[in-house]
Amino acid sequence: MTTRAVSVKTIIRTVLMAGLAFATSISVLHAADGLSIIGTKHDLAHLNQRPSVIATGGGTPMEGTAYNNYLDTCVYCHVPHVTPDATQFNRVLPQDNYAVYSNPAGTMDATINRPGGVSLVCLSCHDGTIAVDAVLTTPSTAWTPSTNHQTMSAGNSSSDCGSCHKPGNKPTHDATASYMTQDLRGDHPISISYSEALLRTPDELRDPLIIAPLRLYNDRVECPTCHDVHNAQYVPFLRIPNAQSVLCLSCHIK
Ligand code: HEC
Ligand code: HEC
Ligand code: HEC
Ligand code: HEC
Ligand code: HEC
Repeated sequence: MTTRAVSVKTIIRTVLMAGLAFATSISVLHAADGLSIIGTKHDLAHLNQRPSVIATGGGTPMEGTAYNNYLDTCVYCHVPHVTPDATQFNRVLPQDNYAVYSNPAGTMDATINRPGGVSLVCLSCHDGTIAVDAVLTTPSTAWTPSTNHQTMSAGNSSSDCGSCHKPGNKPTHDATASYMTQDLRGDHPISISYSEALLRTPDELRDPLIIAPLRLYNDRVECPTCHDVHNAQYVPFLRIPNAQSVLCLSCHIK
């Protein structure tokens, strides 16, 4: 109970600081019923203050050395106008040097597009080419800059999160699975049109009207189709659990 009350307060404060619209805060307050981003791995503003992190890291291990703490959870991704379009986010977007799913068996019906839309927001941290604190607009409230601006990459240099978060380095958890790089050939195809695939082979995919809470973005499958960045209830940030491949079978008829 206490935790929930605190996190609701924190969210209200964070939302006000970010200057988000009232309508936005309502949907997030709703999400706070056990489903908040606060305290998750996506809460960069509070990471260093977490008791588990302080205990393992012997202090605030990332403060001043890994990324700017803007003291505001939302600002790493959002400016006040939230729409599912990559240009409306507070992120420097990556260059398109991606290797994408190559349709090895020749069985894919949808056109393979370049990674685009809201997926670029995710990739702006997860492909390791851009620092996690590389935002377009920093908050106007006081915050202390870091000496390093690390990327989510597996290298050992002072600009890589991997310099600590990798097996064999500092006593930290292994974040290798989050370092996606720009080689996406082994990942689920993204930025593909659902209706195009459905039209060609209706017996292989379900009606898009029944796949909620999975979401399409301009008819496309994007990273947040399956993941909800704000909600760690179903690890790793999934919109529904994937036990017995239920998530996969929400779309695929197999
Ligand atoms: C790690 C990046 C990230 C952070 C941090 C983040 N968001 Fe988001 N947010 C996104 C992305 C990406 C989308 C669009 C995808 C989607 O629909 O969830 C989004 C969508 C939204 C939406 C509209 C869609 C919906 O789910 O209703 C709202 C409202 C929102 N975010 C509020 C917030 C607030 C408030 C915070 C801070 C407490 C926050 N977000 C923190 C990335 C982030
Ligand atoms: C501001 C940077 C940032 C953005 C933008 C971002 N993430 Fe993350 N993400 C992180 C960090 C940091 C972690 C924690 C990595 C670690 O230490 O394990 C993470 C972890 C994850 C994980 C693994 C969670 C777990 O429990 O292991 C998933 C899945 C994920 N992110 C999906 C997404 C998706 C999907 C998007 C876009 C909708 C997104 N992220 C956008 C920074 C970001
Ligand atoms: C100087 C070493 C160091 C560096 C560099 C570093 N971290 Fe950490 N980090 C730690 C320690 C120690 C902990 C606490 C133990 C743990 O959870 O792994 C931690 C914890 C975390 C957690 C919390 C995990 C959880 O489950 O709550 C996340 C997320 C995280 N770091 C992300 C990052 C990201 C992203 C970067 C690069 C921008 C980074 N760290 C750079 C040392 C470091
Ligand atoms: C079709 C659904 C789907 C799409 C689209 C998708 N993911 Fe995932 N993702 C998953 C599932 C399911 C898992 C868990 C896999 C597992 O545990 O073996 C996962 C795992 C991850 C992980 C690793 C977490 C960990 O610790 O194992 C990250 C990071 C991640 N996704 C980020 C992304 C990003 C970024 C995108 C877009 C480029 C994306 N995902 C697109 C379903 C999806
Ligand atoms: C939101 C709906 C959705 C979800 C959820 C989803 N997929 Fe897909 N997937 C698609 C669409 C659409 C295609 C493109 C199909 C086509 O063009 O033939 C696709 C393509 C694929 C392909 C490539 C097929 C080929 O012919 O090369 C594989 C493999 C795949 N998905 C596996 C999975 C797995 C495993 C999961 C669960 C982790 C999953 N999908 C979850 C919609 C989804």
